[in-house]
Amino acid sequence: MKFELLPFALSCLTAFIKAESWKFNVVSIKGPSYDIGLKYNNKVLKMEPSVFPLFTTTIESESSKNYKYVLLDKDGNVVEEEEIKRTYTSETSSINEVYNRENKVVDIPPLPKVYDPLFKSGTNKYQEYDDNEIYTLYAKCDESEYNNLKYNPFLSDGVKNENTTNCIINFITKTKNYQRNATLELTGYDSRLYKKLSWKFKLNKKILGRKSLKFRATYSSAYSRVIINDDVYGLYNIVDVPNKRWLSSAIHGKKKAHTGTSYKTRAGASLKYLGETEKYYNNGVYKVIEIDKNDPEANGNNYYRLAHFAKTYADWIDQYQNDQSQAAVDALEKFFNLESVLRQMVIESLTFSYDNFWANSGNYLFYYNPEQNKYQIIPYDFDGTFHGSNSSKRFGEDYLEEPENCISWADRSRRHYDTYFVGALFNHDIIKNRYNEIMKDTINKVFNVDSISPLIENIRNLIEVDIVWNFDLIDKLDNKISGFVNHYTLDDFIGNINYDKLEYKPSINNNFANFGLKQWIKLRSEQCQIYLSNVANDKINKTKTTITITRTITTTKKTTNNTKTDTKKISTTSRKIIPTSTVSSRCGPEYGAYKLILK
Ligand SMILES: *[C@@H]1O[C@H](CO)[C@@H](O)[C@H](O)[C@H]1NC(C)=O
Ligand SMILES: *[C@@H]1O[C@H](CO)[C@@H](O)[C@H](O)[C@H]1NC(C)=O
Ligand SMILES: *[C@@H]1O[C@H](CO)[C@@H](O)[C@H](O)[C@H]1NC(C)=O
Ligand SMILES: *[C@@H]1O[C@H](CO)[C@@H](O)[C@H](O)[C@H]1NC(C)=O
Ligand SMILES: *[C@@H]1O[C@H](CO)[C@@H](O)[C@H](O)[C@H]1NC(C)=O
Repeated sequence: MKFELLPFALSCLTAFIKAESWKFNVVSIKGPSYDIGLKYNNKVLKMEPSVFPLFTTTIESESSKNYKYVLLDKDGNVVEEEEIKRTYTSETSSINEVYNRENKVVDIPPLPKVYDPLFKSGTNKYQEYDDNEIYTLYAKCDESEYNNLKYNPFLSDGVKNENTTNCIINFITKTKNYQRNATLELTGYDSRLYKKLSWKFKLNKKILGRKSLKFRATYSSAYSRVIINDDVYGLYNIVDVPNKRWLSSAIHGKKKAHTGTSYKTRAGASLKYLGETEKYYNNGVYKVIEIDKNDPEANGNNYYRLAHFAKTYADWIDQYQNDQSQAAVDALEKFFNLESVLRQMVIESLTFSYDNFWANSGNYLFYYNPEQNKYQIIPYDFDGTFHGSNSSKRFGEDYLEEPENCISWADRSRRHYDTYFVGALFNHDIIKNRYNEIMKDTINKVFNVDSISPLIENIRNLIEVDIVWNFDLIDKLDNKISGFVNHYTLDDFIGNINYDKLEYKPSINNNFANFGLKQWIKLRSEQCQIYLSNVANDKINKTKTTITITRTITTTKKTTNNTKTDTKKISTTSRKIIPTSTVSSRCGPEYGAYKLILK
């Protein structure tokens, strides 16, 4: 009885629906030479470009709830219609929809936690970027200043063009939009070799608690589409800049914490003591980021904190190198955050971060934390990860076959095999054991295919359509911008986040990948499980019996033409001598190659 009445009741209701005001907000992803229209009941209404690329309009509703957005040329002609169908709901007026994109609700799950965080992390004003949505940024910049940047990312001899240009930017989130004055600059070094350049905006007023927004074509945090003037660049990662504001939030968990002096580093920042003053450190390897003007010890020496640490660490080595007691570790922990660097090192080993702290002495912030009165190392720029090492001659080919590689992986890559900093740490069994323990917990709880897959799959779901859009854009982007381009396909993308490598095809793609993401996680986690079980057996047996695959390394020094050359004899299972860096100023990657590209 009840059920029979229901359709009748519903049809009565629809008959009485009154016209309502419906508001629409949509973000264009097509650049400023197009407008957006609303197509409703077969009529097209041009929408208002409130702050480009956000268009709005309000209509009186009729009975249908279906609508679409269309792309209009400047004469108001429809040049394209969305492929997707939309239905008006109570939510529509309060969100910013995106042209030709479904209103997806993706809930990216956090990775399982291995340990409680060491730092308080996050304030109300400065939250992590929301990785459940894709932001959109449009910048209107001074045309000739901007052209100077995009056409000349390098000056002569590979020197970075550090010019800036003035812009007005509109930053659109799912529910908000922000307009700011900003200056635009290029970022990175390698990134400038690509047609799809990497950018940073410094803002006159904060957005999401930040005074700068940094867009990189590589590595992950949250996502944003980027359009500058008429150039639709496509999908980028929006990443944080490790400055005072970030430190305040992420390390101290306060809005205006007393933050200390910090230095950014490039390959070769070995943390060796070289002397007391600026002239010993200010050679492009260490760059002062923030100076704590209230540091009572520094006396105006901007490099005081670096020198002080380097000296203290060297003294600690001298005093405790033959001491295996807890006292040695306690003495170190009085001035250095050991636990944080060990956690970081486990991640670097598992992901094979060949351009970071351990392997390359770079891409880390060296920070004096005045709240704890301790020095600490804060990593950034993990773009050289999950690739394995095959693309770098610095590492052996058999790195995945030796379990020991899980702790020794970076030793051989370093210039002159110099493992000054990490070697001194691992000289202490207590520290080495803690590293092993962290690795064990990390593999069990996070670094395995089952634990990471939900994150990978949800991000795929969020960005897949934009990834495909992005692939086509590179050929439509201003042809006068020189630089490498990549032409991936959806199959490449899906394959590479799973178990497929990406072949190097120089005519199509400059970048390749020796491993699929899940493939790497599987292989490396399995390898390091073996390493850990060898270590465990080793401990139980007390005496050092053979680890499955051992290698003895002897270093001999000979002098030719006054330069010291290290040669290595590698016995047992090793087949090849593994080269170290050939570039004197770097521990790391073969930067020499870039000279060729720069013409
Ligand atoms: C910086 O930009 C200005 C304006 O576009 C230009 O005149 C100048 O040559 C640029 N400087 C460099 C070093 O490229
Ligand atoms: C940008 O700067 C101009 C001139 O200083 C100022 O009038 C305007 O309000 C600023 N706009 C924004 C969005 O901050
Ligand atoms: C590493 O490179 C060698 C030589 O190019 C190749 O034979 C081998 O298959 C590569 N290994 C992986 C895992 O890509
Ligand atoms: C000693 O180590 C070996 C392998 O290294 C292992 O097979 C053996 O079970 C260990 N002995 C004990 C008593 O655990
Ligand atoms: C030593 O120096 C000379 C002259 O600069 C050079 O020809 C020679 O190759 C050098 N020898 C080695 C072993 O580097």
